[in-house]
Amino acid sequence: MTLFLGVAVLALQLATVAAGGGAAPPPPLGCPTTCGGVHVEFPFGIGPNCSLSDGFSVECVRGTPLLRLGTAEQTVKLLGVDLGHGKIRTTNAIASQCLDERTGKLVNTSWAGLNATALPYRFSDEDNRFFAVGCSGLVLLTGRASGVDEEVMSGCISVCYGNKSIRSGSCSNTGCCETVITKGLSSYLLAMGKLTDGTPVNRCIYAALMEAASFSFEVAYATTDKFYRKNNGTVPLVLNFVVGNECKEAQASGGYACAGDHSVCVDAVDGPGYVCNCSHGYTGNPYLRNGCIDIDECSPKNQGCPVGMICTNFPGGYNCSCPEGEYKTNKNGVLICEPDKKRSSLSVSVIIIIGVSGGLVIGVISMLITYLVRQRRALADVKRKYFERHGGLLLYEELSSRQGNAFTIYTEEQLDNATNGFDDSNVLGCGGHATVYKGRVPTAGGGDLLVAIKRCKVMDETSNKEFGKEMLILSQVNHKNIVKLLGCCLEVDVPMLVYEYVPNGTLYQLIHGAVVSFATRLRIAHESAESLAYLHSFASPPILHGDVKSTNILLDESFMAKVSDFGASILAPTDEAQLVTMVQGTCGYLDPEYMQTCQLTEKSDVYSFGVVLLELLTGKKPLCLDGPEEERSLSARFVAAMREKRVEEIVDEQVKSEARGELLEEITQLALECLQMCGSDRPTMKEVAERLGGLRRLHQHPWTQDAVEIEEVRCLLHGSPESISFEMVRCQQ
Ligand SMILES: *[C@@H]1O[C@H](CO)[C@@H](O)[C@H](O)[C@H]1NC(C)=O
Ligand SMILES: *[C@@H]1O[C@H](CO)[C@@H](O)[C@H](O)[C@H]1NC(C)=O
Ligand SMILES: *[C@@H]1O[C@H](CO)[C@@H](O)[C@H](O)[C@H]1NC(C)=O
Ligand SMILES: *[C@@H]1O[C@H](CO)[C@@H](O)[C@H](O)[C@H]1NC(C)=O
Ligand SMILES: *[C@@H]1O[C@H](CO)[C@@H](O)[C@H](O)[C@H]1NC(C)=O
Ligand SMILES: *[C@@H]1O[C@H](CO)[C@@H](O)[C@H](O)[C@H]1NC(C)=O
Ligand SMILES: *[C@@H]1O[C@H](CO)[C@@H](O)[C@H](O)[C@H]1NC(C)=O
Repeated sequence: MTLFLGVAVLALQLATVAAGGGAAPPPPLGCPTTCGGVHVEFPFGIGPNCSLSDGFSVECVRGTPLLRLGTAEQTVKLLGVDLGHGKIRTTNAIASQCLDERTGKLVNTSWAGLNATALPYRFSDEDNRFFAVGCSGLVLLTGRASGVDEEVMSGCISVCYGNKSIRSGSCSNTGCCETVITKGLSSYLLAMGKLTDGTPVNRCIYAALMEAASFSFEVAYATTDKFYRKNNGTVPLVLNFVVGNECKEAQASGGYACAGDHSVCVDAVDGPGYVCNCSHGYTGNPYLRNGCIDIDECSPKNQGCPVGMICTNFPGGYNCSCPEGEYKTNKNGVLICEPDKKRSSLSVSVIIIIGVSGGLVIGVISMLITYLVRQRRALADVKRKYFERHGGLLLYEELSSRQGNAFTIYTEEQLDNATNGFDDSNVLGCGGHATVYKGRVPTAGGGDLLVAIKRCKVMDETSNKEFGKEMLILSQVNHKNIVKLLGCCLEVDVPMLVYEYVPNGTLYQLIHGAVVSFATRLRIAHESAESLAYLHSFASPPILHGDVKSTNILLDESFMAKVSDFGASILAPTDEAQLVTMVQGTCGYLDPEYMQTCQLTEKSDVYSFGVVLLELLTGKKPLCLDGPEEERSLSARFVAAMREKRVEEIVDEQVKSEARGELLEEITQLALECLQMCGSDRPTMKEVAERLGGLRRLHQHPWTQDAVEIEEVRCLLHGSPESISFEMVRCQQ
């Protein structure tokens, strides 16, 4: 192998001097500021006395801005000036060297190098890299760098081994090589050598110091002159510039270039010298008096404040504030505005916001409801007008777009007719704040539809909030095991929600009033778990049910579980003030950790679900007030029984007779895990659902048999599904 190595040294004659010393003169008026579309900003200038010093002088030759970096032949074209970072972009020549195959001589060698030693420039080591393309080439780069006494040297080798292994995009010493440059490099020379290894697939190698972001290797670069031709022989290069020696020195000597009040001095990182920058909140030219101007952070383009905040711009900065009656709070590192309960009784404490629109919807609903309550005695047409004016239509659009056509806004008249004037005979049940009626509403198709209508008893702020929340949550979720919200009625004094009618009562009634097969129990548990897992994963932050219990699990025609009553739900962890008012849930089902920490989490729902699972397994009520004290709480009894390995004693006879030993063991173990004192020890709802699904498959109960069991249940509940009377069981707090 032979190595031809040619080196040429550039003769550089420079008579320019760096800036510094003496007061920085302002640029005279009337200097041209652009050349060939390039903005030439001070300290750069076109023409005599227009630049800060000769080093920044730009010649505009036939529409091309030229900067003298080396000898006269080595002028580079100025491509752009970035005053904010103290950089300029210029062109740089591609060097080449070819091997004449016939003579074995090196030809067409064009040497490249730049000498900016005497100038206020250094090659940016961050932006540039040194590249060489071609086969069997060796390239050396020698130069001078500030702060380094000796000559610095680096280089790379490109070998091809034929051209099979050359890959586009990868500059990895096969057809292409690259190397970083020393920080502070101010002059360099290239030396290239051609290795002859018997298979000269390409006769030429090309090399250049250039902007790394502009280089992308193609296979053809290695074997043809495409790299050179495509770029017309020049590539972009980035140079750092400085205006003086050192901030401290410049400020003291008076030759200070950072003019104006909002201009600051920044020492260069790659060697001696400094640049000027506009201080924080300002932009513009820091080298001109009054060159730095205030940034309007509040302009539509900049959007300095989060959505919903009021932006106030002032010189050098901006403030984000909240509308009257709201205060700023930091939620997961994001600043948002929240209503201040202490100061505003009308503003409703929005628990959490799923995005801003979610919060807005709750806010609109709650305010609407509050407003309507106040207008209890107002005339119907006036109410209608207010309904529209206060965003009722907007809300309607929002909700109907989320659920397709499924969401209907009912009129008071429609619901009045549907329930026969809210007749007591139509009452399905009553909860803490609301009564549920059965009714028939007309459908778009001309028929009618059996629905359940939930009407608030008394409208106070809490109920407003619950209604708003329930509406928002249910309008968003769509799951076969969650009761569907069909519509609402807002134009009345007490708002009403309209749900799909679920005919077969509650799980509570089923468990405590019928003989239920193990397969059915397992299926209902699985379905309920799936719906809760869905809720928890539906949104981030997750939706928590907050009041999981057997009376809140309804059963449809085929005894499929439908989770209902989202009045206690929250969309995410709340702030402390709201936590205190949020304590809800039902005795016997309440997560003990929640009672201590007031922190409702997904694991609180898991605990409550564990109690429901116990009810299903034991057929016992969660609280039995007439038993001995230690036996009052079902969960405590169960945990104790598990510990003493006598769990069989409290398991329902029906379950015991059907569930195989190992199955029973696994499901009681799952219940035990759900009931762990510490939330973090409990499984997630998703895990619970998966394990119950697994147990269902394991049980392998034939479908036909399951259907027979359901018929039995129907009979035991006496009569047709529609005539079953409902009984809402609630623990009075
Ligand atoms: C440039 O400035 C020097 C010294 O201040 C002055 O002698 C010369 O006339 C100026 N040239 C032009 C073209 O203004
Ligand atoms: C100048 O200020 C801008 C904005 O504050 C910043 O991005 C930039 O890095 C600064 N330049 C230097 C050289 O410090
Ligand atoms: C050298 O360059 C000339 C013109 O640029 C070209 O015609 C010639 O083929 C080149 N020679 C080699 C050996 O590449
Ligand atoms: C670069 O220029 C400086 C000053 O003009 C000179 O001293 C130095 O030798 C030159 N460097 C090279 C590599 O030519
Ligand atoms: C590889 O080299 C062979 C000749 O050695 C040539 O015919 C072929 O076009 C080259 N392939 C590429 C992708 O350049
Ligand atoms: C190279 O020059 C040609 C003709 O002068 C021009 O059309 C082309 O845009 C140039 N390419 C580059 C990368 O400058
Ligand atoms: C910006 O907000 C801060 C703190 O809230 C306050 O001290 C300052 O006066 C405000 N400035 C303006 C111009 O509003």
